Amino acid sequence: VTKPLKIAVAGLGTVGAGTIKLLFDHADMISARCGRNIVCTAVAARNRAKDRGVSMTEQQWFDDPVTMAAQADADVIVELIGGSSGAAKAVCETAIAHGRHVVTANKALLAVHGNDLARLAEDAGVTLAYEASVAGGIPIIKALREGLVGNKISALSGILNGTCNYILTTMRETGRDFSDVLAEAQQLGYAEADPSFDIDGVDAAHKLTILSSLAFGHKLDFAAVKSEGIRHISAEDIRLAGELGYRIKLLGIARSTEHGIEQRVYPCMVPLASPIAQVEGVFNAVEVVGDYVGRSVYEGRGAGAGPTASAVVADLVDIALGRSSPTFGIPATKMKPAVFADPGKHLGAYYVRLMVRDKPGVLADVTAALRDENVSIESVIQRSRAPDGVVPLVMTLHETEEANVTRALARIEELETVTEPPRLIRIEGV
Ligand SMILES: NC(=O)c1ccc[n+]([C@@H]2O[C@H](COP(=O)([O-])OP(=O)(O)OC[C@H]3O[C@@H](n4cnc5c(N)ncnc54)[C@H](OP(=O)(O)O)[C@@H]3O)[C@@H](O)[C@H]2O)c1
Repeated sequence: VTKPLKIAVAGLGTVGAGTIKLLFDHADMISARCGRNIVCTAVAARNRAKDRGVSMTEQQWFDDPVTMAAQADADVIVELIGGSSGAAKAVCETAIAHGRHVVTANKALLAVHGNDLARLAEDAGVTLAYEASVAGGIPIIKALREGLVGNKISALSGILNGTCNYILTTMRETGRDFSDVLAEAQQLGYAEADPSFDIDGVDAAHKLTILSSLAFGHKLDFAAVKSEGIRHISAEDIRLAGELGYRIKLLGIARSTEHGIEQRVYPCMVPLASPIAQVEGVFNAVEVVGDYVGRSVYEGRGAGAGPTASAVVADLVDIALGRSSPTFGIPATKMKPAVFADPGKHLGAYYVRLMVRDKPGVLADVTAALRDENVSIESVIQRSRAPDGVVPLVMTLHETEEANVTRALARIEELETVTEPPRLIRIEGV
């Protein structure tokens, strides 16, 4: 009989408790699929008295997860605490130093310290697995590293943050403003009390850092992801996007261009008919373009106990079966720093919303500024009139380099008739 795979779980919150529940519920099936049992021998969290909704009488309890990582009777340490430093990082380093495999759902930790941790794990001959860290239940890490391994990837883009997608979807469905919908999302528990990691694009940038390295084989470089969030998206932008045949999504995009790798997170308009436009609410999706496979799209739940536990267990089964591959697709020692494209070189179409005084000559001044920077207008929408009041002036711009648009908008902002900073939303996939 093959020995069981022993695991110790650090962090018993949504994901930790969910993982223990899945292993318990599907113990027989998993045992059949692995040819051995997966047994949780130890757990650690802050509060021993808290009811986790799952039975934990069999496991050894540790108050300190780092001590557990060093001392538990376990082959694998499952890090489900979270955070890019502190206990989570110490748990992973200690586990590796003690020759134990690590499974984690912690995108923040990997985005910031992934290169070092992968190096440590590979030097120690142990696995560092992280399927649950990106897009929850969607097996996108395996898709990129294994299923699509024969392809040269040219681009990937994804809805990587369920909170933002929920807010944008609800704004569209109800016509309500961003701050109103955010407050409701917080009440419902879909958004954190401090929502900035989600709505400013930081969480999506963490995930994109990981996907970009897997797709292009370069070192992880979170600092090089340029990210913008969704705070500035107005109900009016959402409505106008629909009128123009688009839907607004916060996308993480990594693509290979003649100027280098573009690695960005921003809200953008995608054509209504595209698969990504149909992904609504808390769902996540990733679209990958490979040279042999063409375009492929993966969709599913990005968070929650069930989907995330599903991904954690997939990693545990790999370890139980002895399946392993280099952490980020190629050995950590072979990963080179990426050459990143200057964001100003981004070639795309744009939506621009200006708030202007409703006076004669405004449009002429705006178009002159655009013309002077070689930006051409595709369409103009100015419907509401409020003589001497402030009205939106919306334009879509033909494909051009982003630097030209940035310069034109800087000039437009200086115009006396323009009352707020111009809002720019990139148009993707046209
Ligand atoms: N929630 C999701 O849907 C989801 C999806 C994908 C990835 N993730 C990632 O999964 C990880 C865990 O997320 P979560 O939502 O499960 O978090 P959570 O519900 O807040 O749980 C965190 C757990 O860690 C424990 N903990 C915190 N600091 C600790 C310390 N210093 N020592 C020991 N234990 C400590 C907490 O203990 P107490 O319970 O005793 O306070 C709690 O059990 C994070 O990296 C997150 O980004 C989460």
